[in-house]
This record gives sequence, structure tokens and C-alpha cells, in this order.
Amino acid sequence: MTIAVTAVSGQLGTSIARALVEMHTGEPVIGLARTPEKAPDLGIELRPGDYDDAEQLRASLAGVDTVLLISGMAAPDLRIGQHRNVIDAAKAAGVSKIVYTSVQGADEGTSFSPIIKSNRQTEADIRDSGLDWVIGRNGIYIEPDVEYIETYRKAGEIANSAGNGRCGYTTRPELAFAYARMLIGAEHNGQTYLLHGEALTQAQLAEYLNRTFGTDLTYRPMSHDDYKADRIAELGEFIGTVIAGIYRGIHDGALDAPSDFETAAGRPHRSWDDYFASLKG
Ligand SMILES: NC(=O)c1ccc[n+]([C@@H]2O[C@H](COP(=O)([O-])OP(=O)(O)OC[C@H]3O[C@@H](n4cnc5c(N)ncnc54)[C@H](OP(=O)(O)O)[C@@H]3O)[C@@H](O)[C@H]2O)c1
Repeated sequence: MTIAVTAVSGQLGTSIARALVEMHTGEPVIGLARTPEKAPDLGIELRPGDYDDAEQLRASLAGVDTVLLISGMAAPDLRIGQHRNVIDAAKAAGVSKIVYTSVQGADEGTSFSPIIKSNRQTEADIRDSGLDWVIGRNGIYIEPDVEYIETYRKAGEIANSAGNGRCGYTTRPELAFAYARMLIGAEHNGQTYLLHGEALTQAQLAEYLNRTFGTDLTYRPMSHDDYKADRIAELGEFIGTVIAGIYRGIHDGALDAPSDFETAAGRPHRSWDDYFASLKG
């Protein structure tokens, strides 16, 4: 059974391809990438895979049995068509199963909701494809908060609009392990899994960062409008609006649902105590 992983030049695609290789199942793994030269050397075959190029995708999926589709980064309206290119190419190439990395969040009422809706449309397209399918709805990556530590240190605080909302965080390697199992195991077919570890408040996140990095961060809740203006000033209109919408969703409880990680992965999600302890080296 040949498995192809799209966007293998990105962090999640790389992690999933690596997890598949490390599982030593003997199944051939192929990486597809819009920019193959950016993909790390995992000892796997690389093929071109631009979501905007339907013909290229069809050729690159020749001989593939199962495909892992990583959600794209384009604006929501463009993203749906890009994902359809992959789904249609998979059907045309004779792929039998598609696994999709979707996302958690509020379907309505936040500035992140258009992206959530575009992911839900792709989920529907995949369920209607006639192929076997598995969908994972990813929690929020915790790594960006860790990578942001010097900025937090300078500010002396984490400030955003999540309030006391709990967020189901995860890590790319944890997701990768679950997706590798979802790709390989037929028992997951037809399932939609929420993939995250224990949900944390921003105050708990600050406490983990303090214990790990010796900081003295406090958490300061902000209004939705102030936080959105702050993020747009820092990151620009598109990304700033998306980030503000994610934190509004956290505030409203949209990222605090029971996790299916253990069912998907066959083991519990790594604990945050363990994860943060590992960062101390
Ligand atoms: N759960 C979360 O917290 C969270 C946060 C951020 C993003 N996401 C979602 O998760 C996905 C994977 O995250 P990541 O950490 O792997 O992001 P990443 O490291 O930024 O990688 C993004 C990948 O998407 C690829 N890509 C973008 N447009 C493409 C196109 N038209 N055709 C083919 N590939 C395309 C990029 O290819 P190039 O190398 O050619 O640019 C890259 O491989 C993202 O795409 C996004 O949808 C989730």
C-alpha cells in the first residue's frame, strides 16, 4: 500500500512522513510538495504537488493507494478549490483512501470562522468523494507559543482575548503519530476525530512557560476588539484577523471539546508536564 503525504515541505507534512517512515510498516511513502527542494531528506521519493495544478497532482498520485491531504494556507475561497483539485486527482488516479487534516474552531461568529467553514466544506467534499476517508480536526499547535518565548519574556505577560477559555492544544509530532495510524489502519475509515491533548487556559500556559523558561509571565485578558487591532498591527490584516478569530473561539469554548486522540493514535496524547519537561533538555 503506497502512501502519499502532501505539503511534505511543511512542518506537519514532514512530521507525518517521518512518523510513517519510523513506523517501519514496509509501506512505501511518497512526499508531494509544491516546492520539493524545501522538503528535508527523509529518504523517500518526492514528487511535485502544487494544489493549484490539477494535472500535476493527477500524475504525481499515480500508483498511490492512500493520500494524506494537508489543509492549505490560501484564503478560504481559494482553499476549497485547491483541496478539490487534490480530491479529484486522487479519484482520477485510482487512490482508494484519503485522510484530511482539518481544524477545530467556531463555525460561526469569529473572524476565523470563514477558514473553519472552508475546512468543513472540504470535509464534506471528502465524505462525498466515494473514497474511503478519515478526517482529523487538529487542535491548536502549542509550538508557536514556545517559539514566542522571547517576545513574551520582554512583555512580561501573555495578553490576548481568550480570557478563561480552555484550548485543546497539541504538537505536530503528536498529530503526526495519530495521522500515521489513521493512514495505515482501516478501522479508522469513516471517522472524524478531534485531535488534541489536555485543554489549557492561558494562565496555565503561562505557568508552564514560567516553569520551563524561568520567566515570570502573567496572563492579561484583552477585549476582542483591542486584541484584533493589536494582531493586525503586528501581523497584517489577513493573519492578524485569523489569529484574533482563533482566540475569540477559545474564549467562547469552541476549542474545548473532548479529544479523540487516544482512539486515533492508540495511545494517550503526551501530557503537558512531559512535553514542557522535555524542552528543558
Ligand atoms: N492547528 C494549528 O494551530 C495550525 C496553525 C497554522 C496552520 N495550520 C494548518 O495546518 C497546515 C499545516 O501546518 P504546517 O505547520 O505544516 O505549516 P507550514 O510549515 O507553514 O507548511 C505549510 C505547507 O503548505 C504548503 N502549501 C501551501 N500552499 C500550497 C499549495 N498551493 N500547494 C501545495 N502545497 C502548499 C507549503 O508548501 P511550500 O513549501 O511550497 O510553501 C508547506 O509545505 C497549514 O497549511 C494550515 O492549514 C494549523
